[in-house]
Amino acid sequence: MRFLFLNGPNINMLGIREPEHYGKETYRDLLDKIESYCAGKGIDCECFQSNHEGDLVDKIQEAYGNTDGIIINPAAYTHTSVAILDAVKSVSIPTVEVHISKVEDREDFRQVSYIRQAAVKTITGLGTDGYLRAADFLIEYLENRKAEK
Ligand code: DQA
Repeated sequence: MRFLFLNGPNINMLGIREPEHYGKETYRDLLDKIESYCAGKGIDCECFQSNHEGDLVDKIQEAYGNTDGIIINPAAYTHTSVAILDAVKSVSIPTVEVHISKVEDREDFRQVSYIRQAAVKTITGLGTDGYLRAADFLIEYLENRKAEK
């Protein structure tokens, strides 16, 4: 199984930005956590972060035909990006939406999520463990889908 972990703008600032919402772990800590978890589960993973919407769209398109699942925290683009939603719909790869903070308890503008329409699951408020729970969900989702075929 191959998973793509995508992170949007300012996720590279983890550990520095608003620790009351995003905790103290750095982006490097997050990568180490994802990589060692996936290695333990025998999952081939790629992690990519960008502050630019088009780069995230390109990465989603590049996953077409070679990736089993996408785990994405579009960060601020969650609330604005039709382009990222359309990219996920275009490739038809099962996608889990992750947010480190509990977005449902935050500002009104964070209550809109474009990506949610295309996501098989949304995980919020679990800190960086949310990415691992998303991987667990996708493993089970893909195994069930395979068994049904
Ligand atoms: C976030 C929540 C978004 O509202 C915010 O813009 C982010 C991070 C989260 O992980 O909680 O940058 O996606």
